[in-house]
Formats: sequence, C-alpha cells, structure tokens
Amino acid sequence: MSVLIAYATHSGATRTLAEQIAETLADLGRDPHVVDVLEDPDPTGHEAAVIGSAVRAESYETPFVRWTRRRAEALGQRPVALFSCSGSASDPAKQGRQKATDAFLAEALFEPVAVRNLAGWVLMDRIPLHERLLLRSMRTPEGDFRDLPAVAAWAREIAPLLRG
Ligand SMILES: Cc1cc2nc3c(=O)[nH]c(=O)nc-3n(C[C@H](O)[C@H](O)[C@H](O)COP(=O)(O)O)c2cc1C
Repeated sequence: MSVLIAYATHSGATRTLAEQIAETLADLGRDPHVVDVLEDPDPTGHEAAVIGSAVRAESYETPFVRWTRRRAEALGQRPVALFSCSGSASDPAKQGRQKATDAFLAEALFEPVAVRNLAGWVLMDRIPLHERLLLRSMRTPEGDFRDLPAVAAWAREIAPLLRG
C-alpha cells in the first residue's frame, strides 16, 4: 500500500520525523514516499497520507497550509494522519496540545483519522540570526527534543487507520 508522507520544514526536524514514520511503515509492509510539500506531491497516486508541518510563531508553515488547501479534495478522499513538529511539544504542561494544530484543524477542509503533536529540535546553528535573537529574547529552551521511539510508536498506531 502506497502512503504519501508529505512534510514542511524550516530547520530540518520535521523531515527526520517524516523519515522515522516512513521507516516504521515500511517495516510494517507499507510503501512510503517521503516528499517535501515544496515539490507539490499529488496524493491521488497514494492510498493514504501522513502529513506534517513544523510550527513557527504558533502557526504551521505557510507552504504546508497552501499545499493542503490546493490538495484538499484528494486529501478528503483518503485516510490522512496529521502531525506537527514543535519545540513546545516536549513540555509536559502542554499535555499534547498545540495551538497551531488547533488553528489548522479549525480551517481544514478534510478530517484527519489521527493527529499527534511531536517534539522537534531548537538548534541555533540551523536557525537564521534574526530568528535566533528572537528565540533567545523569548528564553526558548535549546536542544534536540525529538523522541524517535515515540514517533515510531505513533506510526505503528496509525498504520491500521491508513486503509482506504
Ligand atoms: C522563529 C521560530 C519560531 C518558533 N515558534 C515556535 C512556536 O510558536 N511554538 C513552538 O512550540 N515551537 C516554536 N519553534 C520551535 C520549532 O517548532 C522547532 O524548532 C521545530 O523543530 C521546527 O521544525 P523544523 O526543524 O522542521 O523546521 C520556533 C522556532 C523558530 C526558529
């Protein structure tokens, strides 16, 4: 079963989460195709999709939002699992919530079969200087907060839902 794994990233963490999901789905016998939304992947060639965006300033990446709108009809016709990649997802006080995801879902033209807010990284050497200054002024914690075993566990959880 072919599964599109489409992502939008700024500093690279979201791509690594997409790749972990792909690796886990491949282990389960699926046929994952990891593609950046900037390449405008077409979901119609796939039976299901897992789509994910980085979070910046409490929003999903603009190219991601535009791609989902452009491809809304195709996304609405197959099972879609949605994930976000953010700094705050590693904060237990957030209890798995992410404002950017809530805002995206409020406007989405399709209904995902699963949603998960995953932790990324805040690595200053991957961020442009002006954004680095902003993050430092906001005292944003730095580090690699990814939990790849948890990402793999989520991929195993959604695998049965990704059947058309
Ligand atoms: C300018 C900037 C703004 C950010 N704003 C948020 C935010 O509002 N909420 C959050 O949880 N994380 C925020 N982050 C952290 C990112 O979500 C985190 O670095 C994530 O790994 C980004 O994914 P990417 O590496 O695929 O671009 C921000 C990071 C940057 C550089």
